[in-house]
Amino acid sequence: MTDRGWEAVDAYIAGQLLGPDPVLDAALKGNAEGGLPAIDVSAAQGKMLHLLARISGARHILEVGTLGGFSTIWLARALPEGGRLVTLEISPTHAEVARANIAHAGLAEKVEVRVGPALESLKTMGDEAPFDLVFIDADKENNANYVQAAIGLSRPGALILVDNVVRGGGVIDAASTEPRIVGTRKLFEMLQAEERLEATAIQTVGAKGWDGFVMAVVKG
Ligand SMILES: C[S@@+](CC[C@H](N)C(=O)[O-])C[C@H]1O[C@@H](n2cnc3c(N)ncnc32)[C@H](O)[C@@H]1O
Repeated sequence: MTDRGWEAVDAYIAGQLLGPDPVLDAALKGNAEGGLPAIDVSAAQGKMLHLLARISGARHILEVGTLGGFSTIWLARALPEGGRLVTLEISPTHAEVARANIAHAGLAEKVEVRVGPALESLKTMGDEAPFDLVFIDADKENNANYVQAAIGLSRPGALILVDNVVRGGGVIDAASTEPRIVGTRKLFEMLQAEERLEATAIQTVGAKGWDGFVMAVVKG
């Protein structure tokens, strides 16, 4: 099946299982008007993140890479009363658009968008630990560093998810010098050696092409 077929199936899945969502439609419109790139997760992937947060009973969520808050909204919708999500974003422009989208979604009380390079922000977050779920979707070069930081900020049993780890199959190109592929391969090498995590990766196809997620649980 072609990429167009993947898109059509994603549209079918959204039509059958997700239904109309004016709030998320408005978020994507806000992103486009703000000049943000359309590199958010797909709606079906957003709902998968939402369901994983619910299944894991997450009350405290950390996101690395906000963009306009599309995935943030999906995750924050899974929070129970009193739950909280912190999302890290380097671009003040992206953060401003995200804050508006999150407020429009009625989630401003639960979500904090924190601006700065995520590696620096993560170093200052010890007091806010532990997190129950961490979603990593920022600069792929730093994925191994983000997962290491996430382990330190997570409770035993916490779920760590990393997006875009297949990169159209590029992940198996050991000769690649493309920084995001090099970063992704470094992530897999780190995961292989990391005894504090139990991990797998799942390939995905759809509106966002051929890619995949790492899913890892912090051992007790
Ligand atoms: C793929 S987008 C995030 C998409 C978002 N998770 C969603 O699905 O709606 C990646 C975001 O990470 C941000 N980013 C890139 N490098 C970063 C860094 N070093 N620290 C924090 N954020 C960064 C980019 O500005 C961009 O907004």
